[in-house]
Amino acid sequence: MTATAEGTNAGGATAPVVEMVGLRKSFGDREVLKGIDLTVTPGEVVCIIGPSGSGKSTLLRCVNQLEEATGGTVTVLGTEITDPDVDIDAVRQRVGMVFQQFNLFTHQTVLENCTVAQRKVLRRSKAEAEEVAMRNLAHVGLADRAPAHPSHLSGGQQQRVAIARALSMDPQLMLFDEPTSALDPELVGDVLSVMRALAERGMTMLVVTHEMAFAREVADRVVFMDDGQIVEQGAPAQVIGAPQHERTQAFLERVLDPTHQHPGTA
Ligand SMILES: Nc1ncnc2c1ncn2[C@@H]1O[C@H](COP(=O)(O)OP(=O)(O)OP(=O)(O)O)[C@@H](O)[C@H]1O
Ligand SMILES: [Mg+2]
Repeated sequence: MTATAEGTNAGGATAPVVEMVGLRKSFGDREVLKGIDLTVTPGEVVCIIGPSGSGKSTLLRCVNQLEEATGGTVTVLGTEITDPDVDIDAVRQRVGMVFQQFNLFTHQTVLENCTVAQRKVLRRSKAEAEEVAMRNLAHVGLADRAPAHPSHLSGGQQQRVAIARALSMDPQLMLFDEPTSALDPELVGDVLSVMRALAERGMTMLVVTHEMAFAREVADRVVFMDDGQIVEQGAPAQVIGAPQHERTQAFLERVLDPTHQHPGTA
């Protein structure tokens, strides 16, 4: 991997892509992130797992300030975004985000969906934006659907367009929030394959997922969250294969065998 200027410090060591220190977030008097310390290094794929309501989406949204932290610091690509004077748009340009709902523009073609932000934000010419978009549509296996409208695509194809659209901005970090959980089961595999290929090409990725097989295979590190805190993190074989904490064990029993009734949840 080539270290960029902002990714390298004076000593030559590689700086983190994301660094959260004591991150807190409250909605009203309800604290949903209770002091998160998390570092993501260049090229690393970190999967976040945990029960519904544990704060996974909120944590991800604090990386591009879709949610504002109420305490602690978040530094992204060398810029402290919790600094009140931050130019957040400059940081957001370098961070791609893919949500459960793909949010494509329905009145535009697939190609237009992938070029509009390039032209508006990065000020690329039509020709250059289209070239970049076509390259990324090819990466997700959808170059032939460039002239189509999103409504003529399956959910899985639409999600792959959303990934191509994000990649067309040349992000240095990709955030995924349960990108496959709104899809029919038979469409999940193609989206995960695209994400796996992206990871193999060295993209730094922070992924909230319920796909334990994907996390196990692709993640460099798995982070288990519960009740606004990181309970346990480590290599996938460790966290998913041999969880140390009782809360991690209970969660994994529920996801890996949904018919299993844990005492107290019946
Ligand atoms: N805008 C908001 N206003 C008030 N409360 C919120 C808001 N967004 C999230 N919350 C609350 O914060 C907590 C954490 O929510 P979050 O969406 O981060 O959980 P999650 O781990 O992503 O859950 P899921 O797996 O269901 O997506 C929840 O209790 C949720 O109700
Ligand atoms: Mg969520």
